[in-house]
Amino acid sequence: MKLSKEQLEQFDGEGYLFFPGQFTREEMQALTDEVPELYDRREAYNVREKGRDAVRTNFAAHMYSKPFAKLARHPRMIRPVMDLFDEEVYMHQFKINGKMAFEGDVWQWHQDYGTWLNDDMMPTERAMNVAIFLDDVNEYNGPLLFIPGSHKKGVVEARHDLTTTSYPLWTVDNDLIAQLVQRAGGKEGGIASPKGPAGSMILFHSCLVHASSSNLSPWNRVSVYLSLCAVSNHIRRFKRPEFIAHRDFTAIECLPDDCLLKDYPVDLPWKDGLPASALQTSTVPFDEMKKAA
Ligand code: SIN
Ligand code: MN
Repeated sequence: MKLSKEQLEQFDGEGYLFFPGQFTREEMQALTDEVPELYDRREAYNVREKGRDAVRTNFAAHMYSKPFAKLARHPRMIRPVMDLFDEEVYMHQFKINGKMAFEGDVWQWHQDYGTWLNDDMMPTERAMNVAIFLDDVNEYNGPLLFIPGSHKKGVVEARHDLTTTSYPLWTVDNDLIAQLVQRAGGKEGGIASPKGPAGSMILFHSCLVHASSSNLSPWNRVSVYLSLCAVSNHIRRFKRPEFIAHRDFTAIECLPDDCLLKDYPVDLPWKDGLPASALQTSTVPFDEMKKAA
């Protein structure tokens, strides 16, 4: 899928593109059916909501679940990003965020690249998220909130929040959020919130400031996020476990467009469990590790 000139301009100005109904319900069903079994697993890669059993984030399902391994190679998700970067991409992070009915907690205001820079030493912003809705997303079940154009600010000041939720995050403080929202149009468009049926897709810049509120509705809001990084921009440090920040920088090879509905062979390297190495971390940049070895 090639992005049009208008889409490229819109992405440049607003920092995101929304594709309602990019996948069919039938295509999404193959993925949704897998989620309860994945969330039931008592594994490090399932991060639960604070003090609760509901899963907040499942990491790296593309390494051990066939339907998600196929999604991770889907041309409708991968090609627009290759197009924007004019380079091949690898999978930096893969997550299935639950935001379960009545249980899903907030994601505070943040930029993803802030975390990728501070924790993973990713050199530049040449990485981005492609999100896909497994459930319908409406104004009640905690949709993503964006501040349009905020990606133009580059990396903004953030503090490492280790206490609010069960997932540590570099978050942006309220004063700066208020300024950014005002600059983006205040009540007239200063916050955007793409909503739509299951199968809708959002592509957003790694410096776009975003958040989501809790889900008090009776409807799950399960979404999958592929964080794709240009191969030349791979991370330089393994401070976070491998199931959160991947260490295989091989370019993704896309499957055919019908891959969610048909069987295609895919590697599932972690299908028998996480290797011990995936839990090992180091604060030393890995080119220094190599020199020391
Ligand atoms: C994220 O920002 O990584 C997740 C936000 C959400 O799922 O609402
Ligand atoms: Mn994020």
